[in-house]
Amino acid sequence: MEKVLVTRRIPQAGLEILEPLCDMVVNPHDRDLTEEELLEMSAGCRAVLAVLSNRIDRAFLEARPEVRLVANFAVGVDNFDLEAARELGVMLSNTPGVLTDATADLTMALLLSLSRRLVEGDRLVRAGGFQGVAPLFMLGNDLAGKTLGIFGLGRIGLAVGQRARAFGLRILYHNRRLNEEAHELLGAQMVSFKDLLSRSDYLCINAPLTAETRGRFDYQAFGRMRPTAYLINTGRGPIVREADLVRALEEGLIAGAALDVYEYEPQVHAGLLGRDDVVLSPHLGSATREVRDAMARLAAGNVAAFLAGEEPPNRLV
Ligand code: 8YV
Repeated sequence: MEKVLVTRRIPQAGLEILEPLCDMVVNPHDRDLTEEELLEMSAGCRAVLAVLSNRIDRAFLEARPEVRLVANFAVGVDNFDLEAARELGVMLSNTPGVLTDATADLTMALLLSLSRRLVEGDRLVRAGGFQGVAPLFMLGNDLAGKTLGIFGLGRIGLAVGQRARAFGLRILYHNRRLNEEAHELLGAQMVSFKDLLSRSDYLCINAPLTAETRGRFDYQAFGRMRPTAYLINTGRGPIVREADLVRALEEGLIAGAALDVYEYEPQVHAGLLGRDDVVLSPHLGSATREVRDAMARLAAGNVAAFLAGEEPPNRLV
């Protein structure tokens, strides 16, 4: 039987697909593998089921020529060197589709947490600071009639737009290409990056991390946003320059931010931690039982297809 490495324990739904098909080695630790451990444990493996923290770069692929498929347990593939894999003839796959709704739900949860000061209010109550309701107490902002800007309108951005429409938000988006569905389903308008920044009351990032999106939300970008605007990032941390975000918040260039992903994940910029206008969640976009089971089935299904000599259904390269 072929040897397959699973770099981090995944739901049983995925492991039970692979168990009968291969000689499966699962990372025994309750933590990510180091680069050295990944290299060591993948020796002799035909396939690796990887997580986001595993850097599948040229050095790894060249050092382990026996690895012919890397199946990511994620839709995002910024941990992969796609070009190197293409050149070296290694197959790569991901887990698209199954986490779209969950990630869009979390985006709305963060947006609502900001607009209605939910986390700030929770902290206040726990600290014994609730003295009774008052006409001017903890006022937030409406959603209806406001504008949501979506940076990166793919599957997840579209699902965010559908939810936002139900709350009465108008939708603008900035994307590499026009998204027909966004116009039909959301009545959305595609705008330049500059217009997205200056016209959004709420701006959510649902783009993948690429050379073009890395660091796109920097001090200059925040300077173009409205002082009343909120930023929500459930895409990838390095799209936002966290130090610039802290400065923008300190200077009142924007009203608040909610982050699920971080520039130097799992580290979080110290300047964000004490702020009441910031909501921070620990990369929960796809974190539901149903979704993680589905991701496990999809990732394992890609490995199973490969082992059977078939095309992995979610092959990218
Ligand atoms: C993580 C994600 O992969 O799919 C993605 O791109 O960012 C997440 O779903 C997830 O936390 C699994 O580790």
